This record gives sequence, C-alpha cells and structure tokens, in this order.
Amino acid sequence: MSQTAADSSSSTRDKALTKVCEERVEIDKSDQRVRRMFASIARRYDLLNHLLSLNIDRSWRRFTTRKVPPQPGVPVLDCCTGTADLALAYDRAAKGLTRVIGTDFCREMLLLGEGKVRKHGATGRVVLIEGDTQRLPVPSDTFGVVSVAFGLRNVRDTVRGIDEMIRTARPQGKVAILEFSRPRGRFLGRIYLAFFRHILPRLGQAIAPNQDQAYHYLPRTVLSFPDGQDMINLLGSRGLIELRMYPLTLGIATLYVGTKPSKGGASYGQEPTR
Ligand SMILES: C[S@@+](CC[C@H](N)C(=O)[O-])C[C@H]1O[C@@H](n2cnc3c(N)ncnc32)[C@H](O)[C@@H]1O
Repeated sequence: MSQTAADSSSSTRDKALTKVCEERVEIDKSDQRVRRMFASIARRYDLLNHLLSLNIDRSWRRFTTRKVPPQPGVPVLDCCTGTADLALAYDRAAKGLTRVIGTDFCREMLLLGEGKVRKHGATGRVVLIEGDTQRLPVPSDTFGVVSVAFGLRNVRDTVRGIDEMIRTARPQGKVAILEFSRPRGRFLGRIYLAFFRHILPRLGQAIAPNQDQAYHYLPRTVLSFPDGQDMINLLGSRGLIELRMYPLTLGIATLYVGTKPSKGGASYGQEPTR
C-alpha cells in the first residue's frame, strides 16, 4: 500500500474510533456501579464469555500462563479474578506446586469462583479473597506473577490498579495484563466495530438481562481504554521494565507483560506519559 493510501486508511479508522468515543455517553465506572453490574450478570458470566468469544477466551488464558509461567513455590496473584478462570488456569499450569490467590470486589462472582475451585479439586491451593484492586489486601513484594484478565479496564482508577499490581509483585516478578484491544486493519476493524457496537450489546442483554446494560458498557470501555503501544507506554511510566505485548486472535485481545525491577533499579510511580 502506498504511503498516501495507508495514511488515508488509518485516518478513516481513527475517525471511526473518534466518532465512537465521542458518541459514548460518560462511562460510569464508579466502584458501586461496576460491582452491582457484575453481581447482576454473575450467573450468566461464564456462559456468555465462552459463547461470545467462541471459547477462544480459554486459549487466551492458557497463552497467558505459558508466556508468564508460575515458578514452583512462588505464589501467583490474580486480580479482578471474577469466577476464577485465570486463577484456575494458573493452578493447572503450576501442577499444584504454587498457591494462587484470586481477588475481586464482587462477592457474587467470587462465590461462583469458589464453586469452580471446589469442583476442580483446587481447594487450599487456589484461595479467593474479597478485595479492591485499587487497595489490594495482600503484602508488597510477594508474588512471582501478578495477573489480571479483562479486569483492569473496569477498575475506576487504572493507574492505581497498575501501581497496586506492581507493589504486590516481588522484584523481578511479572505483571501480566490480558485485555481486549482494537484489531488493526481496515476491514477487520470495521467488522469488529459493527459487532461490538450493534450485535454484542443485544446478544448480551438478551442472554443476561440486567439494569446496568452491562453489554453496552463492554464496548464503550474497550473502545476508550488504552491499547497497544499506549498501554505499553502507560506500564513503562509506572516503572515496569522489559515490556512486551502479544496481540491475540488478530488483535481482538492483547497480553501485556512487564517485569518489576529489582530494588535499587528503576523507580516506580512516575506520572504517566500522555
Ligand atoms: C470482565 S470480569 C473478568 C473476570 C475474570 N478475570 C475473567 O477473566 O473472566 C471483570 C471483573 O473485575 C472485577 N472488578 C472490577 N473492578 C474491580 C476493582 N476495582 N477491584 C476488584 N475487582 C474489580 C469485577 O467484579 C469482575 O469480576
């Protein structure tokens, strides 16, 4: 593609995205609203997740545990763990040699997660704790892996959530963030936008009816959340090093990985770059 055609295609895409962002009503990400919304869809959450992603979400979590593997005997923390899918994926990857702590501030999601932990015979190895990712109820410098899947986007103060993940990771520990992203490319970008804006909210509302319009909220949060290089820049500005990103399934989701520097290395918590 010539430079001019490439420019015009990316400017068309940018305009489409800008339009979506402008159209979006102010997203209410207050803790209370987010907690209530997940409580109201909790019972259907897993079903919808696997249905809407055609089960691909499972492979994204497996990929995460392979790229950012647990170390024997070094605990893993999964924030915004919800119904514990990533926590359980880490338990499987660790072959029972590592304790996995999952935290979430929505009790209804955690109760379902606890049922799954029992069903998988992981009681005692996977422990779920009620807690806000902006104030994680766990000590600093402890975990070899601190992960989050499809949760950070929902945290009211993203930077605070990232800072907490970094605080709780041990020096040289990994922070792994699996999140939806916007596929690059003109054709796929358009299909994705159409699906996300028109089909997904209707399907979601039909299968898991809820007052908070959770499946209208999903595309709005994804489209207004930093992805790709913007996310890498944000993570770097908070002090993570050795940053990598892995776009998955044509960029519908991306795994971002960073390392917490050793003590005395780079400092954490600078202002994010804009
Ligand atoms: C989309 S679900 C993801 C659940 C799970 N990680 C997965 O991969 O399926 C988002 C979860 O983030 C939780 N959450 C959102 N904001 C939170 C916060 N500030 N502190 C703790 N949990 C939060 C919600 O309660 C919900 O369970």
